[in-house]
Amino acid sequence: MAAVNEECTGNLKRQLAKLFDVSLKLTVPGEPSVEPLVAASAPGKFEDYQCNNAMGLWSIIKGKGTQFKGPPAVGQALVKSLPTSEMVESCSVAGPGFINVVLSPKWMAKSIENMLIDGVDTWAPSLPVKRAVVDFSSPNIAKEMHVGHLRSTIIGDTIARMLEFSKVEVLRRNHVGDWGTQFGMLIEYLFEKFPDTDSVTETAIGDLQVFYKASKHKFDLDEEFKEKAQQAVVRLQGGDPLYRKAWAKICDISRTEFAMVYQRLRVELEEKGESFYNPYISKVIEELNTKGLVEESEGARVIFLEGFNIPLMVVKSDGGFNYASTDLTALWYRLNEEKAEWIIYVTDVGQQQHFNMFFKAARKAGWLPENDETYPRVNHVGFGLVLGEDGKRFRTRATDVVRLVDLLDEAKTRSKIALVEHGKDKEWTPEELDQTAEAIGYGAVKYADLKNNRLTNYTFSFDQMLNDKGNTAVYLLYAHARICSIIRKSGKDIDELKKTGNLALDHPDERALGLHLLRFAETVEEACTNLLPSVLCEYLYYLSDYYTRFYSNCQVNGSPEETSRLLLCEATAIVMRKCFHLLGITPVYKI
Ligand code: ARG
Repeated sequence: MAAVNEECTGNLKRQLAKLFDVSLKLTVPGEPSVEPLVAASAPGKFEDYQCNNAMGLWSIIKGKGTQFKGPPAVGQALVKSLPTSEMVESCSVAGPGFINVVLSPKWMAKSIENMLIDGVDTWAPSLPVKRAVVDFSSPNIAKEMHVGHLRSTIIGDTIARMLEFSKVEVLRRNHVGDWGTQFGMLIEYLFEKFPDTDSVTETAIGDLQVFYKASKHKFDLDEEFKEKAQQAVVRLQGGDPLYRKAWAKICDISRTEFAMVYQRLRVELEEKGESFYNPYISKVIEELNTKGLVEESEGARVIFLEGFNIPLMVVKSDGGFNYASTDLTALWYRLNEEKAEWIIYVTDVGQQQHFNMFFKAARKAGWLPENDETYPRVNHVGFGLVLGEDGKRFRTRATDVVRLVDLLDEAKTRSKIALVEHGKDKEWTPEELDQTAEAIGYGAVKYADLKNNRLTNYTFSFDQMLNDKGNTAVYLLYAHARICSIIRKSGKDIDELKKTGNLALDHPDERALGLHLLRFAETVEEACTNLLPSVLCEYLYYLSDYYTRFYSNCQVNGSPEETSRLLLCEATAIVMRKCFHLLGITPVYKI
């Protein structure tokens, strides 16, 4: 048996795959391209992982005069050539050739101890990318920032956080819609209402959405105004200082409103709106033209794409640019100027066709490789609708517009009421009460969104998301707080305990919890590479489940195993906090 150098990547699946890779090369030297197939086994199975290469390998080699008699024999041979490793307790072949791997509890305990000392960042995924762009949130100026933008903000932030945890430099981009034709009418309307634009203040304009509606109303009814508005677009896009100034003012007012949402959610974003790419558009479209991609169609300039029954319009018949030309330009900029290797767009699934089309155009232009999993790479992260409890598109009460700030504030208020009902206002300082209500309220909104497979529609229900039982942030935050209180009650200095190296996983519930903790690395990696925050939520929910089982069956404080069990509690709390961090949720330490 060969020995293998075990780099501690933290990713168990990858470490096992490395071992099986060695044994594959030794067992079937003639098949160097066969990749190891290692999978985690379902909870409750006697084995922890399975290697499933034997069957497939057999079908490759059986016609080539192999010495093996069938898949089980191939499996046996793979086990025999597996390098020795402290990680593996035992390996056996079952059924048609599955290789069952049982991990060594001693090695597992040691790995958790190492994490306690070196930090959970040693369990971060390693991705083959240095820099990524996450294009998310991206509301439209002067229009409603709706729940769809809220979903984009929450999902995008988590994706950015997961990539940042994986040491990828993330450019968090707010691709705000600040350059549409709507600005013509908004500016004209502004000039009419406030001839002295300089003195216009936010409060004077009042609600920008109302302002938008009023100007749209005028635009639809008043021919003369309509013409002026169309002229205004031309002047704005031509750089007329007066129009630029009015435009900037309108953008500023919207920005203040967006910022309130970002501030509450503690989401950081850098705005590079559609207007940013304006100076580059003609050059980029010209490049596509030179490459022979752009054709004339009914007065417009379009790109015909295989597999789509409509072409992608890049220049409108009036000569203006549109959403697609801006996105193509932004992609060009991100690839060439910002040197991003992975560009991720988070919007509702309704925009999927738009993304598929301009991605395809970019491949046709040779900007992106044909294989969509090869870097530089683009991904559209789509998500479903937010529904109200009546099953229809989400709306709040009387108005048909949901002010996101109000929505978030309501979550906080409701969570505060629940805390007061539990008498927390008597136990805690007002600041503590406020901070906890905020962590729970905003955390609940985020988690309720993230836990679903993002493609499905989800029902927005304060009652559900703020329930302290079931798969909610409230339940999980309480679980974390309880662990912290167990550690506090022990009166032990946990940092001192960490140095003792006394962790053991002897009880089956300790082992099950330990295994789940160790699967953190491969789980985040999966969530990250598949752009699925729900995978991380599911992991977190199970973690609290494993913990509850452990805690019900293994006495911690005052038991002979106290030190070891406190360390296991601490490891659980650390991993939970990392999950919260990645989901953008502020942890709670006492309840
Ligand atoms: N502003 C758009 C909307 O509200 C979303 C922009 C998404 N990003 C992009 N690069 N197209 O629907």
